[in-house]
Order: sequence, then structure tokens, then C-alpha cells
Amino acid sequence: MRLTLFCALLPVPLLAQPGALAVTPPMGWMSWNLLAANVNEKDLREMADAMIGSGMAQAGYSYVFIDDGWQGGRDSLGNLLADPVKFPSGMKALADHLHARGLKLGLYSDAAPLTCAGFAGSLGFEEKDARMFAAWGIDYLKYDYCHAPEHTDTARARYAAMAAALRASGRDIVLGICEWGQRQPWLWGAQVGGQLWRSTYDIRDKWARRPDETWGEGILDILDVNAGLDAYAGPGRWNDADMLIAGLYGKPGPSGDGGGTGCTDVEYRSQFSLWAMMSAPLYASNDLRHMNEATRTTLLNGEVIALAQDPLGKQAVRMVHTETWDVFLKPLANGDHAVAILNRSDEERPYELEFSTLGLSGTYAIRDLWLHADVGVASGWKGSWQPHETKVFRLKKD
Ligand code: GLA
Repeated sequence: MRLTLFCALLPVPLLAQPGALAVTPPMGWMSWNLLAANVNEKDLREMADAMIGSGMAQAGYSYVFIDDGWQGGRDSLGNLLADPVKFPSGMKALADHLHARGLKLGLYSDAAPLTCAGFAGSLGFEEKDARMFAAWGIDYLKYDYCHAPEHTDTARARYAAMAAALRASGRDIVLGICEWGQRQPWLWGAQVGGQLWRSTYDIRDKWARRPDETWGEGILDILDVNAGLDAYAGPGRWNDADMLIAGLYGKPGPSGDGGGTGCTDVEYRSQFSLWAMMSAPLYASNDLRHMNEATRTTLLNGEVIALAQDPLGKQAVRMVHTETWDVFLKPLANGDHAVAILNRSDEERPYELEFSTLGLSGTYAIRDLWLHADVGVASGWKGSWQPHETKVFRLKKD
């Protein structure tokens, strides 16, 4: 009786639920922007080594994601095969290799006969494929929606079928829904058994879509969709704002399409800050084997990662949104608050924020999470922002 009462009083995220999946937003590296359909076990092993060698694994990145292009069709019994040329040792060997190093393996399929890049999809083979994924040791399935009917009910049914098959597989496998926010998956994704859902079409390596561009999502375009979805996020259910693009610098490939000519390091850092504030998954997509210092310090900012991984699991609320300024507020498990301030404009600008406008009264010890410095005790903050810069502060009640 006492124990029940005690548990009932605990906030939900503190109750460790057996088998709970994606209790904090997943972190890792995803192959699509770098390798497209040329994904292969050699590059993936090297990427895993780089994830460990760079300190990223220790900082919390754990998933190595094989996106589209790994499939080698089906055998005569309908079993899904990995391409034997790209994966000569097979998927199980790769999963074992990663697991032995404390990492996890993510894999990709599609809720239709074919994937986006035209490989074998899982429609009609959900149970068979889920059993195969479990036997291989897969930890996460990114489940796409190319070549599938438009209607929301069909999407729900197809995602529910794969979620049920994964549950029945006997292995804990996270399900990431990827229908690009077209059917408002934040309204039904958790209900059908997904732990994450992409909120937009694919990110391109750019800050924002220009007025003359008809397609291609930049950082700001995705931010402006994802920022409104805070009510739907929480432990085990996250709005997926797609991959981090830090370090791509206009590389040709999927991220270079749709006007993806590259961003500045300030912009890459802004994406990282804002994605962490929004409790979005953090999937790097650059070449981890060849990172410059700027990319490394962006992806390895442990104080910002701590915001993304905060156990309270609250997506930041956008409290101020003007043509020039965005201010996000994220409550944290220990009672601190994170505040991120973005200069959306193309000019350097001053800004002054009274914390009381965010509902935070009194004075706070302020820590700048990019300077890694305690910068004062005050009831507000005043400073100057570079174009597209995001400053992130952690506030502790004085
Ligand atoms: C879709 C997804 C991308 C990627 C490709 C692979 O476009 O949204 O993230 O998985 O398919 O073909």
C-alpha cells in the first residue's frame, strides 16, 4: 500500500518501466547523407570506430543506423536478405561487432513493397522481417512510407502492423515512423506503437528555403514545424526533426539536393542546440572519420547533450517567436531551466531578455553552455548575437 502510494507520487519518467523504449531521445549516426544507397559494412565499422575514437560514444551516441540500400532482395522462402557484396559478413556479424563495443544497430525498411530508393520493402512480410531483424540483433527500425497510399488510416494500420510484429519478435526494437509529418503522426504515432515520428520531409544542408526554391527543407523550415509539437513529446514518444547536418559543408548527395549548398559552423551549432532543446533525436550524418575541430566541438558539447537527454523529457516550448527572434524554454529534471535564444535574421543583433517574460521570477545563476562558463547571477540577459546564432543558457534559481 505504502509502495503504491510512493510510486503514484513519483513523476512518470522516474519510474523505470521494464522494457520501456527510447526513454530519452536516441543518439547516433545515420548513413543516408554520407553514403546514400552505397551503404556497406566496411564504412559502417569504420564509422563505429570513429564514434568511439572521437569520444562521441562516451558522450551518449550509441546507434549506428543503416539507412536505405542495404537490402539484397528475398530468398525463395521470402526471407529478407542483406546485399552480400555490401555486407559480406552479414547483418548478425555487424550487430555482434557493434554490441561488443557497447553500440547499437539501427536498420531501415518501408511500409510498402519497395523502399524510397527502390529496394525490397516489408509490406506483407512484417512478422517475417521483424523476426529476422530480432535474429540479426537490430535495435531500431526506421520505417519509411514511400510507395504507400496517402490515406492516414492506411498509414496507421501499416505502422501498427510493424509495431505489433516487432513486439512479438521477442527483442526490444525501437520503431521510428518516417512518413515525413504528412499525416500528423504526432497525433497517432505513439498509439500505433512508434517511439518517434519524423515531423517533416528530409533535411537538406541549408539554413532555410529561399523564396525562389520550391522544395528542400532547411534548418529553419524544420524548426518552424517541430517547434509547435512540444505537447506531443515525452519519454518514449519523440518528434524526430531528422538528421544533424553539422560537418557536411555542402557535400554532394541527398543532403545537397533541394538547394543544400552547406551551412556555416554557427548555423550547424544552432541546429544542434535547437534539436537538443526540442528533445529531438541527435543523429549525426557527417563523416565521423574526418571531422574538423568545429564539428567535433559541436557534436561533443556535453552540456547541450545533457539537455537533450534530460530525464524529464520535456520538449522546449517556443515562448517568443518573431521574424527576428526565437526564445525556447525547457524545464529540466533537477529544477533548472534551459533557455535558447536564436537570432533568425541575417544581421548581427543585440537582444535583451527579462526571464520574468518566460514566467521565471527572481534571479538565476546563469551558465552559457557554448562558452562553458558561469556568466553571472541576474534576472535577465543582454548580449549580441551573430546572424543565425543560438545561445544556450542553463539557469539555476539563485
Ligand atoms: C526517405 C527518408 C530519408 C531516407 C531515404 C532513403 O527520403 O525520409 O530519411 O531514409 O528515404 O531512401
